[in-house]
Amino acid sequence: MPLLVPNRYRGKLIVVEGIDGSGKSTQLSLLSQWLRSQRIAVAFSEWNSSPLVRETTRRGKKKNMFTPVTFSLIHATDFADRLERYILPLLKAGAVVCADRYAYTAFGRDVVRGVSRKWVRNLYKFAVRPNLAFYFRVPLEVAIGRILGGRNAIKYYEAGMDLELSRNVEESFRIFQGRILDEYEAMIQEVGFHVIDATGSIEEQQQQMREIVLEELGESLRNGLLRASQGDIDAAKAAARIL
Ligand SMILES: Nc1ncnc2c1ncn2[C@@H]1O[C@H](COP(=O)(O)OP(=O)(O)OP(=O)(O)O)[C@@H](O)[C@H]1O
Ligand SMILES: [Mg+2]
Repeated sequence: MPLLVPNRYRGKLIVVEGIDGSGKSTQLSLLSQWLRSQRIAVAFSEWNSSPLVRETTRRGKKKNMFTPVTFSLIHATDFADRLERYILPLLKAGAVVCADRYAYTAFGRDVVRGVSRKWVRNLYKFAVRPNLAFYFRVPLEVAIGRILGGRNAIKYYEAGMDLELSRNVEESFRIFQGRILDEYEAMIQEVGFHVIDATGSIEEQQQQMREIVLEELGESLRNGLLRASQGDIDAAKAAARIL
């Protein structure tokens, strides 16, 4: 089964994946600053951020109402909304869209929550295949150390507490994230991840990312294919009503 739909638009889609605390947002933000400094039009899209399902997700989580299937479907709805109303118009306009987590997050998390690998891949088959997908590989302990260093509480769903792996939040988080890590490792070949050693310094990792971007997308960057006008970008954002 061919995985995801090829991107036939002028713009490019770059995604970052990895367990919580692997450094995805840090790296994607640096990459987008660099692209902007080359006068390339860049837009961001974050996992689970669509206004369409926000209230339902909040209520469902609060009352612990989700089953593995409904949890997966609500995230897929969020994803479809962002893809169709925001990501695709921006790709059409010629922007570089940077996605902080993509369908592969569902391939990891939803499977660990109990849906089948085949089912979740089938669910997301409408998604556009990224031009570049980075996977930030980090040992569990390093990621946990970073997360606990940065804030005090781990949230209920983030720790997979609904799975009843342990009554202790930190222990549950450890088991849950460990299983997601195994899923990511198992899908590297299948989805074509560029693996970044996320234990390295922020600067080292950023250097590697930029080299890969130049190698893979350099021609489009050089030929000015990705210089969408700000007017096009603004129009696409306005159409998605997320300005
Ligand atoms: N290479 C690094 N070395 C040390 N600390 C880092 C490194 N990269 C990021 N950090 C720090 O680790 C923490 C988590 O980083 P970041 O928020 O980028 O991770 P993330 O993968 O986006 O996590 P989440 O999935 O929870 O959003 C932050 O406090 C960040 O400053
Ligand atoms: Mg993040």
